[in-house]
Amino acid sequence: MTTRKTRAPGKSPSSTKTVAANAAWGGRFAVGPAEIMQRINASLDVDKRLYAQDIAGSLAHCAMLVKRRIIPRQDGAAIARGLAKIRLEIERGHFPFRIEHEDIHLNIEARLAELIGPSAGRLHTARSRNDQVATDFRLWVRDAIDRLDRETAALQAALIQQAERHAATIMPGFTHLQVGQPVTFGHHLLAYVEMLGRDRGRFNDARGRLNESPLGAGALAGTSFPIDRAMTAKALGFDRPAANSLDAVSDRDFALEFLAAAAIAGMHLSRFAEEIILWVSEPFRFVRLSDAYTTGSSMMPQKRNPDAAELVRAKAGKLIGALTGLLVVMKGLPLAYAKDMQEDKATVFDAADTLSLCLAAMTGIVKDMKADKTAMRRVAASGFSTATDLADFLVRHLQLPFRQAHHVTGALVARAEALGCDLADLPLGEMQRVEKRITRAIYKVLTVEQSVASRKSLGGTAPTNVTRAAASARQRFLPKGR
Ligand code: ARG
Repeated sequence: MTTRKTRAPGKSPSSTKTVAANAAWGGRFAVGPAEIMQRINASLDVDKRLYAQDIAGSLAHCAMLVKRRIIPRQDGAAIARGLAKIRLEIERGHFPFRIEHEDIHLNIEARLAELIGPSAGRLHTARSRNDQVATDFRLWVRDAIDRLDRETAALQAALIQQAERHAATIMPGFTHLQVGQPVTFGHHLLAYVEMLGRDRGRFNDARGRLNESPLGAGALAGTSFPIDRAMTAKALGFDRPAANSLDAVSDRDFALEFLAAAAIAGMHLSRFAEEIILWVSEPFRFVRLSDAYTTGSSMMPQKRNPDAAELVRAKAGKLIGALTGLLVVMKGLPLAYAKDMQEDKATVFDAADTLSLCLAAMTGIVKDMKADKTAMRRVAASGFSTATDLADFLVRHLQLPFRQAHHVTGALVARAEALGCDLADLPLGEMQRVEKRITRAIYKVLTVEQSVASRKSLGGTAPTNVTRAAASARQRFLPKGR
């Protein structure tokens, strides 16, 4: 059985509450949006963060409209004064944000009308929210890139400082998480300095492509007013106006490139966080974190947990998800603007905040961590880690081809393993049973100190290299001696 609801003609279904018509675009609408329509449509809670960029964009647009005699000078002056007042209101926390005005752009415009009257309505001449939001968002991402660059440099500075302190501190180098060859702790830390340098490079490459102004593209087709796009582009610090109006309003590559760079940086920080987690664990004990960077367990009183590093490891997942999320939002959109694109900002803001937090946490950890040289050295000397040095000795002193030297060394390792001793403790007689030309000189290459000291090839782990590499990293990445 079906029941039919009766409703008064011209009224919406009784279950649908509506709100007042939108002042900015409601001219042709007889009824306001349903409450749920307003809720899904509004982006104010997210895009209020664009207020400074929105005001800067409006000021540039307004000055251009006046210069090109598109709006009267007095109106332009009133608009500029009103916008300055609005900026203060927002910064002092008494701006009347109103969800019925949908987003930051319309909130500012509505407030401007309250403050200066109908001439506020001239500001939107030759402009659409489509080119407006694209401009604001580019400016915001540009600022975020500059901020993250400084924060990444701060982490590099902390790493370089520890690398200088530990240029000669010996630790095991791993492949397959098996002890491979001894390396220096400073060398290991400088590897991350290189990774972070590439992260900064990626953000800066993105910044270069980002820096074109969409302002003046209008809704999608350009405008019939005699605007000067080069003027607004210059005022906002853009290199040039974007060439195609359709592309200008529909492009979000700059956001995607930002997220891609953030995802890769997050992956780097996560790898480092994972190493910290291993290093502070009881079986490793390479590094100790102070109370300031660890937490306790509510049940096990002895615990010191590296929660911050674990969270950095986890948050890389969010960053990777952000990139995937926005790619999926964009991939099916026809030109030009579609409201789907409004979802871009929450994603990018959250990624920027997340990466910033991870960088700060890792910088704190790096400054805080204390290396346990004894524990590191003990493991570095285990697992026949100088076997490669032995093979190299056979090549150098007995002129064996490396493959044969490798074979002989393998036999010596097997012998040491059978006798339960290290290579350095294998008696000369035992060595000579495998290769009779081996001399006592071999013992000199079997210490971990000798091993790392010998690796002086370009980019190698020798302490002398590390000291030089740290100085060069300072020059390359921290030019102002930060
Ligand atoms: N809040 C919107 C956004 O972030 C502004 C652009 C709205 N444009 C439109 N045609 N409805 O995308």
